[in-house]
Amino acid sequence: MAIAIILILIVVASVLFHILAPWQATPAASNWGSIDTTLFITLVITGIFFIAITVFMAVAVMRYRHKEGARAAYQPENKKLEWWLIVITSVGIVGMLAPGLVVYNDFVQVPKNANELEVIAQQWQWAFRFPGQDGKLGRSDVKFVDSANPLGLDPKDPVGQDDVLIRNNEIRLPLDQPVKVLLRSKDVLHNFYIPQIRAKMDMVPGMVSHFWFTPTKTGKFEVLCAEYCGVGHYNMRGHMIVEEQGAFDQWLNSQPTFAQTLTTAAKPSRDSVLEKGRLLAESYGCRACHSLDGSASLGPGWKGLYGRTEQLVDGTRVLVDEAYLKESIRDPKARQVQGYPPVMVPYTLNEDELGALVALIKSLSAVPQDDGPSASDATGRGDDLAAQGQQLAESLGCLACHSVDGKQGVGPSWQGLYGKTETLADGTRVKADEGYIKDSVLNPNAVIVKGYAPIMPAFALSDEDLNALIAFIKSKANANADAK
Ligand code: CUA
Repeated sequence: MAIAIILILIVVASVLFHILAPWQATPAASNWGSIDTTLFITLVITGIFFIAITVFMAVAVMRYRHKEGARAAYQPENKKLEWWLIVITSVGIVGMLAPGLVVYNDFVQVPKNANELEVIAQQWQWAFRFPGQDGKLGRSDVKFVDSANPLGLDPKDPVGQDDVLIRNNEIRLPLDQPVKVLLRSKDVLHNFYIPQIRAKMDMVPGMVSHFWFTPTKTGKFEVLCAEYCGVGHYNMRGHMIVEEQGAFDQWLNSQPTFAQTLTTAAKPSRDSVLEKGRLLAESYGCRACHSLDGSASLGPGWKGLYGRTEQLVDGTRVLVDEAYLKESIRDPKARQVQGYPPVMVPYTLNEDELGALVALIKSLSAVPQDDGPSASDATGRGDDLAAQGQQLAESLGCLACHSVDGKQGVGPSWQGLYGKTETLADGTRVKADEGYIKDSVLNPNAVIVKGYAPIMPAFALSDEDLNALIAFIKSKANANADAK
């Protein structure tokens, strides 16, 4: 009885919620109506099914509740009932899907007078391109992508020279002008999504998808990425500002053409080196994880970073100088700052580009410093094999889970591990000797130390690499081995 009442209350509350909800959005674009109507039809159909099924459950709970002596009747099939259910659900599904065909057709049938706008996605930011005076977008291809030309336009295509490039996350559009949005991605799947405009489409590397709409209301709307694209996905946001034609034209004229960006990239003054660093930071998406104002993010903020001394994951300390920054860009896992996840990918930049990025980072420090003495080189001293092992541990990412200073990690710390007796998940005890450590690297989930999750991937290492790694772990056997 109580359950039947709760079920009925859930139905009544859900219906009332939808009828009385005060949130009404104002239509902000041409395709608003049809898409919302389709969503509303879906809501009504699923709502009817929801009410019918829940009420049926309530009735069944009441009517067929347990009674002394009553027996359930066995009825394996009921042709008539099955036909009714098939017909009703088919009508419901057709009712939900059919309007979508019409609406999607409108969404991709672009009117002749639409202006073009290209949206380029990459981990984890947006860039945009307008066709310029000639109304045509120039050719593009991944083979043209470099730091001076991050959108990969063909430098030889005359049509592309006047294309206007917006290399940041904010785009503007003129009010009441239909716009054809062309979408392409430079790396992985993304999805261009502006909720208020009811516009959303996947961006697939290697192809150009499109849709169109006419913005009908001025304002600032958020642009989101709606396809999981990596650790910076949540931060892949931008804005679309819809404004009057006059204001838009003025803004558009102040933006650089493709030809202009190529000439700026060509002449190296100090300002242009910084500008190049900024463009690189934008085009490689550095800023998705490194803030410029010192605020916390996935990676260390760049403000005040240069010249600072940072604590690394292995407990050693390093002065952030030019050499360290360059190494960290080329091989981010080599010397990782403590407290950050090991998620940065290596970037293959030439010396020029590295110099520009470092100049940018330097410029964000209050006291710009000249190159200090290079930080102590962890791999160039002492026992060669152990040093080689340390390098391996760094490059394979072992240190992300295994500390070398006894700190609690995802996996057992290596400090004092060698020679210790560990209790396994099945209660047996094992001595962490050479054989055991080798097995644990090659086939980590065969035996698990008690208290740790079985999540370590297997590493297929040569005997030589294994020996180096074990030499490094051995060197940490003594609790004080980390002094440095
Ligand atoms: Cu791009 Cu998610």
